[in-house]
Amino acid sequence: MTGPSVQIKPFLRVLDGEALFPPPVWLMRQAGRYLPEYREMRAKIPTFLDFCYTPAVAAEATLQPIRRFGFDAAILFSDILVVPDALGQKVTFEANEGPRLDPIQSTEAFLKLHEEIDLQRLAPVFETIARVKAGLPDETALIGFCGAPWTVASYMIAGRGTPDQTPARLFAYQQPELFQRLIDRLVQASIDYLGRQVEAGVEAVQIFDTWAGVLPPGEWERWCLAPIKEIVAGVRCRHENVRVIGFPKGIGPRLADFAAQTGVEALGLDSAADPAWAARTLDKSLVLQGNLDPLALVAGGTALKTAVKRILDAFQGRAHIFNLGHGILPQTPLENVEALIELIRHRTPT
Ligand code: CP3
Repeated sequence: MTGPSVQIKPFLRVLDGEALFPPPVWLMRQAGRYLPEYREMRAKIPTFLDFCYTPAVAAEATLQPIRRFGFDAAILFSDILVVPDALGQKVTFEANEGPRLDPIQSTEAFLKLHEEIDLQRLAPVFETIARVKAGLPDETALIGFCGAPWTVASYMIAGRGTPDQTPARLFAYQQPELFQRLIDRLVQASIDYLGRQVEAGVEAVQIFDTWAGVLPPGEWERWCLAPIKEIVAGVRCRHENVRVIGFPKGIGPRLADFAAQTGVEALGLDSAADPAWAARTLDKSLVLQGNLDPLALVAGGTALKTAVKRILDAFQGRAHIFNLGHGILPQTPLENVEALIELIRHRTPT
């Protein structure tokens, strides 16, 4: 009963290479603070990690945007920083400040990490996946995810988000052997974690490399490209047919190399990528995802219409999944999300 011919989920049909018009749509960070029903539920749970590790609420948060907007895919409600947490690093999220971790600055600190990811600690995440699967409409796909090693390591080293991840970049220059060990640990942890997500029921996985764009040539190949290539190969080794979306934010013309070398089937484009350039330049077998500016969605009106049209026109005729170029912003008006869905789904091909 499976296989492309009977695939009824538009998101998966496109991930398997079919061009659909209108394209399927989901939004990065579609569960979260712009939704009043999320804020209400979040207010009842003291910490963000408790929220992520409570399957009933995490599953509900995953389903909320599906119920409200009917997106073609749900993304598991969790965070990329559950991986350092399950490696034994202390991780907390401070209200309005973002993540805080005990920074890893020395070999001693690195040696305190677990050798392998503690999948038992992440058992609630796998239960969330099972619950979401049971609650999703038949036509809606479920996406799992992890952060790319470079992006996750940059938080582990700095202990927080910084404007351009300077602490981790400096660390990689000054202590490359130790940094390599950390990246290797994250590669293996990510393979194990994504593998378990697939076994629990996700139908595709996205690898978020939010900070890929800050690395210069040389560093980029070593810390972004190579580890993601290893993760894709490692996950495929266990689950041959798993579909992988790479999101290497900010890498511009390196996108072609990234896709060719990592072997992902789909590429998430950030908002700076020109859709016409991407459609023209990137290999036709690649599925492209993106890339509306999240601020155009905050603005709405003509700005939104113009931006949506540019994207739909550029990708028409090739396998495309509509998305933002980065996460939805908390101040996004709900009616603009409704307008976006309407613009995508009720537009005739030109
Ligand atoms: O809806 C979804 O996309 C699913 C859940 C999801 C979250 N984070 C929930 C979250 C996903 C896929 C992420 C990915 C993530 N987390 C990334 C990569 C994508 C990106 O946006 O660049 C990164 C870098 C993180 C790390 C992280 N988590 C930061 C920097 C922050 C604080 C800033 C912020 O956006 O809030 C978080 C917290 C976080 N992760 C929240 C949510 C809903 C807000 C916390 C809260 O509600 O209290």
